[in-house]
Amino acid sequence: MCGIIGYIGERSTSEMLLQGLRSLEYRGYDSAGVAVVDNGELKLLRCEGKLDNLVRQVDPTGLNGSYGLGHTRWATHGRPNEENAHPHRDCSGTIVVVHNGIIENYLDLKAKLTKQGHKFVTETDTEIIAHTIEKHFDGDLALAVRRSFEELEGVFAFVALSANEPDVLVGARNGPPLVLGIGDDESFIASDVPAFLNHTRSAVYLDDGDIAILRRGDVTVVDANGAEQERPPQRITWDPVQVEKQGFKHFMLKEIFEQPRAVRDTLLGRYSLDTGLVHLNEVALDDAFVERLSRISIAACGTSWLAAQVGKFYIEELARIPVDVDVASEFRYRNPILDENQLVIGITQSGETADTLAALKASKEAGATTLAICNVMGSMATRVCDQTLYTHAGPEIGVAATKTFTSQVVCLYLFALHLAQRLGRLSPDAARARLEDLARAPHVMESALEMAPSIVDVAREFYLVGNFLFLGRGHLYPIALEGALKLKELSYIHAEGYPAGEMKHGPIALIDDRMPLVALALDNPLFEKIASNIQEAKARGARIIAITTEGDDRLLPVLDGDRDSVIRLPRHPDAISPLVSVLPLQLLAYHIAVRRGCDVDQPRNLAKSVTVE
Ligand code: AGP
Repeated sequence: MCGIIGYIGERSTSEMLLQGLRSLEYRGYDSAGVAVVDNGELKLLRCEGKLDNLVRQVDPTGLNGSYGLGHTRWATHGRPNEENAHPHRDCSGTIVVVHNGIIENYLDLKAKLTKQGHKFVTETDTEIIAHTIEKHFDGDLALAVRRSFEELEGVFAFVALSANEPDVLVGARNGPPLVLGIGDDESFIASDVPAFLNHTRSAVYLDDGDIAILRRGDVTVVDANGAEQERPPQRITWDPVQVEKQGFKHFMLKEIFEQPRAVRDTLLGRYSLDTGLVHLNEVALDDAFVERLSRISIAACGTSWLAAQVGKFYIEELARIPVDVDVASEFRYRNPILDENQLVIGITQSGETADTLAALKASKEAGATTLAICNVMGSMATRVCDQTLYTHAGPEIGVAATKTFTSQVVCLYLFALHLAQRLGRLSPDAARARLEDLARAPHVMESALEMAPSIVDVAREFYLVGNFLFLGRGHLYPIALEGALKLKELSYIHAEGYPAGEMKHGPIALIDDRMPLVALALDNPLFEKIASNIQEAKARGARIIAITTEGDDRLLPVLDGDRDSVIRLPRHPDAISPLVSVLPLQLLAYHIAVRRGCDVDQPRNLAKSVTVE
């Protein structure tokens, strides 16, 4: 997903732009570029590959300027090379644009502009924006952007400047995020808060259809008709240090170890052990709606979809309301049966995932009530939905979701308890017992993370293996799927998660001494069942990585000390097992990926938020 930064102010523009792009690297990219205006002269530098290639170019030229744009590109149209890197220019070379998203009608526009004499030099859809603005530009960049905005179709966020209209940046949002940073004598426009968080905590999140005009000392937001829009600034409470690695080798490792704090923060203020009540004040579902609630659908993607599957267990067990879970890309196109007596939950850490947003919009149109479970304040999902239940995981920089996943699971458990209480299906005493277990989760997770060093040894044993099978049962089946997804997306090893009970229905044919089996064999009511699966796999030569409970040695007679591995987790209540048992799987994927030399924080082909279909 591309990263955008625009700056206008009194400090070194190139320094502000490069700092901002460095903070956006987590979004994943394959090329980068900056454009600054220095006394009316436009200077442009672009490179293929990482930001360091750009920094090397900037130093010798001492790229000065009083305002400018920067971009990290994640290729959607056109190869990842210098020519296709942003910023892109118009024919005159005085208007430049940086863009995130897809202009779906770019070929149609390109044909029309070519007929009008425009010359194109790249394969990108972005270049169309620069030429469309040029077509409308008569000295008023904001007006030209507003008119261009009307012609563009697709999902896009872009920022433009013109060397012929000094000290103005104009940005437009229709889908992917754009946020303004309002400083004392400077302002920023960027894809995400970390781009300017070291300089200001005052942020303005743009809505779809907004056009932001940044002048020296003044920022206004208008709609495509030029009508001013009220967008009050929000104070960002993140600590800039949170966004740094704090001594960890990778953001992902830091975020794995942040999970106890993230869970603690997500729980904070949302329940009382005295009363045994859950207080989700931010979720205002009226009593009549809750009483007639007939079904809950959850739509999400990737790891968020797996959190949804854990949530299904909690909600159906406690609130006794049927829950359907769907990947958002399927939900949005299968014409789901929805009505005003239903709730659709969209789980999305970024709040910007295209398929999840589309699923939520379709649900609203069908009359359902919508709830976002999201980690980014002010993101699109929180504005599309009727209600939002925020995770408080803090900024998650690593592309692979870790602390946002466990925070999502906590939100779903709280929501299930909340619904059960409102429906009179859970007494305060019963709820208190569960809340006491939940309140222990951060401490249990901290204890569990003490096994981290043992995972390094396991990774050394298995990092060259070509395939993995992950097995789980009940509410740990989604955790097996998540363990497989983590390994796939970080180490590029093929891995498959399976409900353990399905082994005899096909997967057991895969088992031999080259197919290790990661089994979630915690001390719970289904232990005996999964122990049988382990024995069946052992009998066919598989090596086992067993995730077990401290003090439970029932598997030891089955396992071979030299071929198999055992990871012991502190004893904990079964209901919080998804929060605890995912930890060794995250660490296993991380350490195997590191040993394989993979780019752990920015895995190949992946983006932190998939803002296009
Ligand atoms: C997480 O490890 C994955 N990188 C990815 O599947 C992610 O969970 C998915 O893209 C959904 O993102 P969202 O939560 O921001 O919607």
